[in-house]
This record gives sequence, C-alpha cells and structure tokens, in this order.
Amino acid sequence: MEESLPNRDRIPAHVAIIMDGNGRWAESRGISRLRGHRAGLQRVRDVLRASNDLGIQYLTLYAFSLENWNRPKTEVDGLMSLLIEYMERELNEVDRNGIRVRAIGRLDRLPGRVQKAVENAIERTRENSEMTLTFALSYGGRAEIVDAARKMVLDAERGTLLPKSIDEKTFRDYLYDPTLPDPDLLIRTGAEVRVSNFLLWQIAYAEIHNTNVMWPDFQKQNLVDAILDYQGRERRFGMTGSQVREGGS
Ligand code: IPE
Ligand code: IPE
Ligand code: MG
Repeated sequence: MEESLPNRDRIPAHVAIIMDGNGRWAESRGISRLRGHRAGLQRVRDVLRASNDLGIQYLTLYAFSLENWNRPKTEVDGLMSLLIEYMERELNEVDRNGIRVRAIGRLDRLPGRVQKAVENAIERTRENSEMTLTFALSYGGRAEIVDAARKMVLDAERGTLLPKSIDEKTFRDYLYDPTLPDPDLLIRTGAEVRVSNFLLWQIAYAEIHNTNVMWPDFQKQNLVDAILDYQGRERRFGMTGSQVREGGS
C-alpha cells in the first residue's frame, strides 16, 4: 500500500487514546502482563514524540481507569510503579520539548508516591505551551460527571452558582480540566470497539478510529493512519453534508 502523509492543515488539535491490549500482547508471547504494560510504556514516549512532530496540540492518554482498580493487586501495584517510572524518566525530555503535563481523574485514590510524581511533573511543566499531555488516571467518565454535579451543588448551596445559569458551558467548567478541549479524534487500540467509560462528556462529537493493533505494537505509522482516517471524514455536527460544505470552514 502506498504511504500517504496527513494534510498538515487538518491535523486534529486533540487526540485521545484508549491504550488497550498490553495484557493480550504479553499473553500471546507467553510473558507476564506486567511486561506487556512495560512495553506499552515505551509506546507512550514514541507516540508523544510523533504527536508533537505532527503538530497535535493535545494528547490525552487513558492510562488507568477507575474500573482498573479491580484488577489483581500485583498488576495494580506494577502499573503504579510504572507510572512513577515514566514520570521520573521522561520528565526531562517532556519538559525540554515544551510539553505541559496534566492529569484528570480521582487522583486522590492514587498511592501517595504516584500522586507526588504526577504533581511534580505537572508543576515542573506548568508554564510549557508547545503541547499538552494529559493522563487519565484513576479516571472514569461517569465519575467525572458525578464529581462535577457534586461541586455544582456545593456552589449552588453557597450561592455562587444559580441553578438557572447552568448550561453546557457552565457544566464544562466543573469537569476535571475545563481547559481541555473536546477530543477531535478518539483512537482505541487492542481491537475492542467500546468506550470503557472514557471522556463521556467530551467525546460527544469525536471521530472514532479503532484498530486491531495492540498498544505495545502501536507505531508512528499507526497514528498517521488514524489521522488519515480522520481527515477522510466529514464532521457534520448534526447538519447536512451540503450545509457543511457550503459553510466551508
Ligand atoms: C491496557 O491494556 C492498559 C490498562 C488497562 C492499564 P490491558 O491491560 O487492558 O490489556 P488487555 O486488554 O488485557 O489486552
Ligand atoms: C480501558 O481498557 C482502560 C485503559 C486503557 C486504561 P480496559 O481494558 O480496562 O477496558 P475493558 O475492561 O476492556 O472495557
Ligand atoms: Mg484491556
């Protein structure tokens, strides 16, 4: 197949990825699931570089879901250690490239040492503006909406939020990171075609690209393929095709 390059003018500003398939990748090789997660971590570094090269402004990675807390303790502990390792090992390069690190999720559930490593990365890269890398950690989309509702009720009780002023824009202000724009492109690796509680509010109009590639095998070319797929779509946001084409944005 002839390789093509994405149109530089239509690079999705925000790409979100459900990095799935580490376990199956490892099991098919007869190695431990944790080794699959370790291999997956290498791809985070590659995909971040590739995203930066391609001009993607926001990359959001689903690294650990609220439901993932129910996995065996050894796997959860291993994943937590890998997160710390990533934050410590990659921070210099991430910072040098002007990338700002953020995190969304019920971070208070993470072990203290993981919270520290994440906070340190966020703090050190706070002023960077080249690109934003957001980790969804201990994250659930429904929990995010519930947490937002709870904060809104508290503000309403305090009198700082008028119920009648609540609209979609106000609601967004109560999400974990209101500065995070909606993803334009949602990629899921690992062959499953489901959302698994990721960014439920934000993906309302995301284009979805699914691939059978397991996350530890995901290469720059797979990202490029996803972007080409995205660029071939017509985003209609409820309008007709001719309306969109006449609007010509
Ligand atoms: C994704 O890979 C990583 C996490 C959920 C932390 P999985 O561990 O879910 O891999 P599979 O789906 O079992 O192959
Ligand atoms: C989604 O993958 C969560 C992450 C990639 C962190 P899962 O492997 O947990 O999703 P399900 O259980 O197959 O839906
Ligand atoms: Mg999985």
